[in-house]
This record gives sequence, C-alpha cells and structure tokens, in this order.
Amino acid sequence: MRAKRTSLVHLIYFSRLNLSSDPQLRASQIADITRQAQKKNEFSVITSFLLVDQNFAAQIIEGERTSVHETFNRIAEDQRHRDVQICEWREITKREFVNSFKCVVRGPATEAQFAKSNLLPMFQRGTPKASAIHALAIAQQSEAMSKQGIDHLFI
Ligand SMILES: Cc1cc2nc3c(=O)[nH]c(=O)nc-3n(C[C@H](O)[C@H](O)[C@H](O)COP(=O)(O)O)c2cc1C
Repeated sequence: MRAKRTSLVHLIYFSRLNLSSDPQLRASQIADITRQAQKKNEFSVITSFLLVDQNFAAQIIEGERTSVHETFNRIAEDQRHRDVQICEWREITKREFVNSFKCVVRGPATEAQFAKSNLLPMFQRGTPKASAIHALAIAQQSEAMSKQGIDHLFI
C-alpha cells in the first residue's frame, strides 16, 4: 500500500502591489521577488502561481500545511504589497501547479485569457473569486506548457 501523504493545502490570496510605475524598474522588482520565492519555495516544497494584473496580485500557494502557513506569513509582511487578503484556504488531494514559483503578468501575450477571466473588475471591487483566480492560473500554466511541448505529461 502506498504511504499516506502529508496533509496538502492550497491558499489563494490577493493584494495590491507597491511596485514602481517605471516598467524597467518594475520588471526588475518582479525578478527579485521571483528569485527569492523560487529559492525559498524549492526548499519548503511549495508550488505556486502568481498572477499580476496592473497593480493587483493574486497567488495560489500549495504544499504541506505548515509550509504554506509559514510561507504565507512571510509574504503577508512583505512591504512590496499591501492589503493582503485570503480568498480561500483548503485541503487538496493533489498539487495542480508544477513550478515552485511562476509569475505571469498581464500583457499582450496573456491579454486574451486575463480579459476572459474578468478578474480586474473583481479586484477593483475587492471581491475576486477564488475560482476565477484558480481557473486563470491553470489556463496560463496549460498554455505555457503547450508552448514548451510538455502538456501531454500532465493530463
Ligand atoms: C507578491 C509576492 C509574492 C511572493 N511570493 C513568495 C513565495 O511564493 N514564496 C516565498 O518564499 N516568498 C515570496 N515572496 C517574498 C516574501 O515576501 C519574502 O520577501 C521572502 O520570502 C524572503 O523572506 P525573508 O526576508 O524573511 O527571508 C513574495 C513577495 C511578494 C511581494
């Protein structure tokens, strides 16, 4: 019999970014976050997906309960964003994201799916649905994997 897995959870939150309005500076700030998060998440066996739409961020973090808790507590204190609010936190049976940390920013290449998700008006009202964040992150991951030709591994 297979050994019982430790308890897996996912946490979905959204926040408002305090990043520069200068595109180059902003890109380097996002690159800094990515570098830090990748390293820490690999160490804690966290998988995650961050969506950035204008100054709004939404992230799904999945992993062992204690690791997700510790990671989120660190993220919530980060001055690079504010108004951090949890949308959903629940047990899951399996992970859905393959990277320790992946960030997708709304832009020409990702516009169609961001527009379809209708998340921006929800962010502006302060009531984004966890299901909408989750669906957009999954769609973005699928598209990225298809482009890399590895989608068949994750059906
Ligand atoms: C939007 C956003 C998402 C982040 N995501 C993660 C993450 O997934 N994992 C992580 O360890 N840190 C993440 N960070 C960075 C943490 O807030 C923190 O700066 C980093 O973990 C280093 O923490 P330390 O200085 O206490 O070691 C994120 C920061 C921001 C602003």
